[in-house]
Amino acid sequence: MSFILTSTDENGICLIKINRPDKLNAMNIEVANELIQLFQKIENDENIKVIIITGVGDKAFSAGADIEYMSKISANQSEQYAKLGQLLTDTVENIKQPTIAAINGFALGGGCELSLSCDIRIASTKARMGQPEVTLGVPPGWGGTQRLMKIIGIAKSKELIFTGRLVKADEAKIIGLVNDVVEHDMLLDRCITLAKTISANSSMGVRMSKLAINKGSNADLNTGLNIELLAWRNCFTHEDRKNRMVEFVNKSKK
Ligand code: COA
Repeated sequence: MSFILTSTDENGICLIKINRPDKLNAMNIEVANELIQLFQKIENDENIKVIIITGVGDKAFSAGADIEYMSKISANQSEQYAKLGQLLTDTVENIKQPTIAAINGFALGGGCELSLSCDIRIASTKARMGQPEVTLGVPPGWGGTQRLMKIIGIAKSKELIFTGRLVKADEAKIIGLVNDVVEHDMLLDRCITLAKTISANSSMGVRMSKLAINKGSNADLNTGLNIELLAWRNCFTHEDRKNRMVEFVNKSKK
């Protein structure tokens, strides 16, 4: 049985589901490896324009790293497991295509960190998000100490990580942890509508925007502006950009 389910529609929207519902989609080594391999494969598939990731079942996006496994391992093994989690979140963050996390329930620990590595987060009213690692004796280890503060700020990030408190969907929206909250039954519809809007735009334009934002967010302003310039110029070497601009000028845009 595969721990990951995928399907791609005619608009190039790829839906990925973590499939371990009996363990609230907790990501053991197999789940993490399958996800990494899948994202690496998708990156080279030009037919895939937008990726949505969610969890199977009504209860969880993912309850995080596998606590049963972690309860038995040595410090060396823990380092390997954290490196695997960091490789997963780095791979998701840096994939060329835009990514949307459809948070359908618990997104905790590594599950929350996986959602933080996506470009956009949409939560259902059932979502509960948090970094409860300190309740288990460790800090977040799959990128949470770094990415959470970039998204919600240092003070709020420290509060959530130090307390391990879970936030409900409405609070997640207020603090900027998710872009939007929708009724649980409407979650996938909403994410697909959003993905369709993005996929109708120039893939190159979207990908270059993502690259400039991601790389620029880790650089000083001047470096970021130089990255923006390269991303901008690169689009001028593509037919798609030319066609779209000529269509506009000729008023022939459908
Ligand atoms: N790793 C491994 N197994 C997990 C898990 C995790 N992160 N989270 C949940 N599970 C398993 C439970 O052990 C249980 O398995 P079992 O049925 O074989 O006993 C199953 O998933 C259902 O979880 P359960 O705790 O019974 O559900 P609940 O509705 O009572 O509680 C949570 C839901 C999310 C509050 C609770 O499961 C929880 O706190 N999970 C851990 C979250 C966490 O700390 N994640 C960060 C890890 S670093």
